[in-house]
Amino acid sequence: MGRIVYVNGEYLPEDEAKVSIFDRGFLMADGVYEVTSVLDGKLIDFDGHAVRLARSLSELDMGNPISHEDLLAVHRELVRVNDVVDGGVYLQITRGAPGDRDFVFPDPEETPQTVVLFTQSKPGMAESPQAKVGIKVISIEDIRWGRRDIKTVQLLYPSMGKMMAKKAGCDDAWLVEDGAVTEGTSNNAYIVKGGKIITRNLNSDILHGITRAAVLRFAREAQMEVEERPFTIEEAQNADEAFITSASMFVMPVVEIDGEAVGEGVPGSVAPRLREIYLEESRKAAI
Ligand code: PDD
Repeated sequence: MGRIVYVNGEYLPEDEAKVSIFDRGFLMADGVYEVTSVLDGKLIDFDGHAVRLARSLSELDMGNPISHEDLLAVHRELVRVNDVVDGGVYLQITRGAPGDRDFVFPDPEETPQTVVLFTQSKPGMAESPQAKVGIKVISIEDIRWGRRDIKTVQLLYPSMGKMMAKKAGCDDAWLVEDGAVTEGTSNNAYIVKGGKIITRNLNSDILHGITRAAVLRFAREAQMEVEERPFTIEEAQNADEAFITSASMFVMPVVEIDGEAVGEGVPGSVAPRLREIYLEESRKAAI
C-alpha cells in the first residue's frame, strides 16, 4: 500500500495526488522546501524548519499559505497515518500553477500556491552503520546561484555533485568557491583541529542549517570551542577530523577528502560525541 500524502488541503493516496504541469515549481524551480526528521514518531527541530520556511518564502516574495499550527498538524497527521517511526517529512511550497508558462510571477490573488507534503520512512535511521565508519567526499566547484541561504528546489547541481561523487567511488561532494569550502551538496561542512570546531560563517553563501544551529549550540554548551569562518580543502585534509550535519544525516563523520585520509582515516572523537549529544537532546525536545 502506498503512502498518504498531502496536497493543497487534502490527504490522498500517493497515486491520486496531482499537481498541474503548469506549476511553477515544475517549470521554473520556483519553490522552496524543508525536510524535517522524525525519530520515534516525533518531529525533530520542527520550529526551526518552520521559521526557515517562512524566511525562504518571504525572501522570494511568496506568501505563506499555511499557519505554523496547521503546518505542525499536517506534519503530525502524515506521520500518524503513515506509521512513520523513523524518517522524515518533505514539504514543498511553490508559487502555484497560473495555467500557462510565463517568467513573470502570477498575481497571488488569482494563483494559489501549491503545498505538498509527504513522508519518507527510514527505519533505524539514527543507528546508521555509515556513522560508525564515516563517509568519503570529493571537492567540486560551487557553481550554484548566490542565494544559497534560501532553501529553493533548484537542486540540479547538488544532484550532479552527488553523481560525480558516486562516480569517484565516494559518498558526497564538498563545494568550493574562491578556494574555500562553502558546504556539502545537501549538508553543512565542518573540520576539527586541536579540539576546535571550524565551520563556515553564515551569510548567503550557504544554507543556514537547522542541524548546524543545534549542533553548534550543544558544542558550546559542552565547552567545545567553535570558530565560524571559511576553510580550504587542504586545511580540511590536514585537520584532525571532519564531519557534516543535516536533518537526514544528523552528524556524520567524513574520513576522506579527495583521496586523502582525514586524521587516521576513521571517525575521531568529536564528531561521534556530537552525534550522540545531538540525537539525545533532539529526541528529548522532539514534538
Ligand atoms: N538538505 N546545506 C544544504 C545545501 C542543504 O541542502 C541542507 C539540507 C543543509 C543542512 O540543513 P539542515 O540541517 O537544516 O537539514 C545544508 C536537506 C536535508 C535535503 O535537501 O534533503
